[in-house]
Amino acid sequence: MDSVSRLRSFGVRQYLMRSPLRRLAVLLTLRKVLLLFFIWSIVEAQLVRNRIAQSERLFASRPIRLDKSSRVFIASLHWNNEAILRSDWNRGVVELVNALGPENVFVSVYESGSWDDSKGALRELDQVLEDTGVAKKIVLDKTTHEELIAGPPDEHGWVEAPDFRMKLRRIPYLSRLRNLSLQPLLDLAENGTTFDHVVFLGDVVFNTSDVITLLNTNYAHYAAACSLDFSKPPGFYDTFALRDDDGHEYASLTWPYFRSASSRNAMVNGIPVPVSSCWNGIVAMPTSAFTGIKGLKFRGIDDELAQSHLEGSECCLIHADNPASRTRGVYMNPHVRVAYNRAAYDRVHPRGSSWLSLFQVWSGLWRNRLARWLTTPRLKEYRIRRRLRLWEQEGAEKLEVREEPGDFCLINEMQVVVTNGWAHR
Ligand SMILES: *[C@@H]1O[C@H](CO)[C@@H](O)[C@H](O)[C@H]1NC(C)=O
Ligand SMILES: *[C@@H]1O[C@H](CO)[C@@H](O)[C@H](O)[C@H]1NC(C)=O
Ligand SMILES: *[C@@H]1O[C@H](CO)[C@@H](O)[C@H](O)[C@H]1NC(C)=O
Repeated sequence: MDSVSRLRSFGVRQYLMRSPLRRLAVLLTLRKVLLLFFIWSIVEAQLVRNRIAQSERLFASRPIRLDKSSRVFIASLHWNNEAILRSDWNRGVVELVNALGPENVFVSVYESGSWDDSKGALRELDQVLEDTGVAKKIVLDKTTHEELIAGPPDEHGWVEAPDFRMKLRRIPYLSRLRNLSLQPLLDLAENGTTFDHVVFLGDVVFNTSDVITLLNTNYAHYAAACSLDFSKPPGFYDTFALRDDDGHEYASLTWPYFRSASSRNAMVNGIPVPVSSCWNGIVAMPTSAFTGIKGLKFRGIDDELAQSHLEGSECCLIHADNPASRTRGVYMNPHVRVAYNRAAYDRVHPRGSSWLSLFQVWSGLWRNRLARWLTTPRLKEYRIRRRLRLWEQEGAEKLEVREEPGDFCLINEMQVVVTNGWAHR
C-alpha cells in the first residue's frame, strides 16, 4: 500500500499513531520551522533597528540650520504644571528664546485655574524673560473650574449629561483658551509685526535642538509638524488627536503605532511620518494658517453633535479645517522625542545607541502586526459615522446645513469640565 491510500484508509491521526518514527519526524520538522521563523523575525528586527540607527546617524551628521531671521511665536497653555515648569520647562523656554534671538520671538503663555503654584513658577519665568528683552504676554487667570461650571449655561459649549444636567464641554473650553493664547499674534499682525512659525509648547521636557529640528521637519515644508511624546516609553502618551494618513486611530500603543502602510513604513524607516492629525508634545505650524481673513480658530464640534455622545479634539479639528494639511501635509517627526518627565526623556535619548532596543523593535513589530491582523477599526468608525449622518439628516429637516469636515477626529466620548479637571460622561 502506498502512503496516500494508507492516509485515506486510516486518516492522518491513525497513520501517525501507527508510525511513531514518522510522528517524531513531523514534530521535529514543525520545531525546525518554528525555530527558523523565530530566527528570521529576530534578524528582521535587527535589520530594522540598523535602518533606524542609520537614519539617526545621518540626521545627526547633518547640521540643523538655525535661520537667524526666522521669527517664532511660542504659545502654551498651563494648568497645574508647577513641577515640570520648575524642573525643566522654564529653563527650556529661556534657552530657546536666547538661541532664536529675543528680537525674533514672542512668548504667549496662558495659565488658568491652577491650584498648585504654577502661577508662581510662571511669574519667575516672566522675570527671567524680562531680562532677555523678549516680547511676551503671560496671562495668569484666576478663574477656577468651580466658577466655570457653576453656570448658568451659556448658549454654546454646554451639553446635557446622562443625568439630565447641563455640563460645560471640555473641548470648546480648551478651544477658547487656545484662541486666547494666539490673540497677540493677530493683534501684532494688524500692526505689521509678523512671525513665520507658531510653536505650541506642551508641558514637556524639551531642549532647543528639539524645537529647531521640529521647525526643519521635511525640509521645512509642512502644514504642521509635531514631536513624539512619552510618559512611559516606548508607549505614546497622547493619542486623542493622533490619526494615521488614512484617518485611523493607532493600531498599537507601542512603536511603530500606525495602521496605515505609509504612516507605519515611515516610522519603521525613521523618516517624517505623514499623518492626518497629530498633536503630541510640541507642534509647529506656519503662522499663515492663523492670520488673514481666512485665519483658523480652534473649535469644538457642534453642541448637537456632541449631544449624541461624540467628541473630537480641537487639536485634530484644526488640521481638518486647515486647507494646507492637504497640500503641504501634516508630519510627525521621529527625530523629535519629548517627554512628560526627565526620566522618560533620558530613556528616549540614550547615549550612543538607537532609541529603540532590539526587543522593543521585535515586540513592537509583532504587536502592531497582530493588532492589524486581528482587529479592525471599521465597526467603531461605522457607529460614529452613523451618528454623524443622523445629525446631518436632522439638520436637513430643519433646513440647516450641517457639516463636520473633521469626521476622522470623532470618538465615542462625552468630555465635560469638573472641579478637579475633566471627566467622561
Ligand atoms: C476662538 O476665538 C475667537 C476670538 O479670538 C472667538 O470669537 C471664538 O468664539 C473662539 N472659539 C471658541 C470655540 O471659543
Ligand atoms: C498697535 O498699534 C496701535 C497704535 O500705535 C497701538 O495703540 C496698539 O497698542 C498696538 N497693538 C499692539 C498689539 O502692539
Ligand atoms: C538636546 O538634547 C539632546 C539629547 O539629549 C542632545 O543630543 C542635544 O545636544 C541637546 N541640545 C542642546 C542644545 O542642548
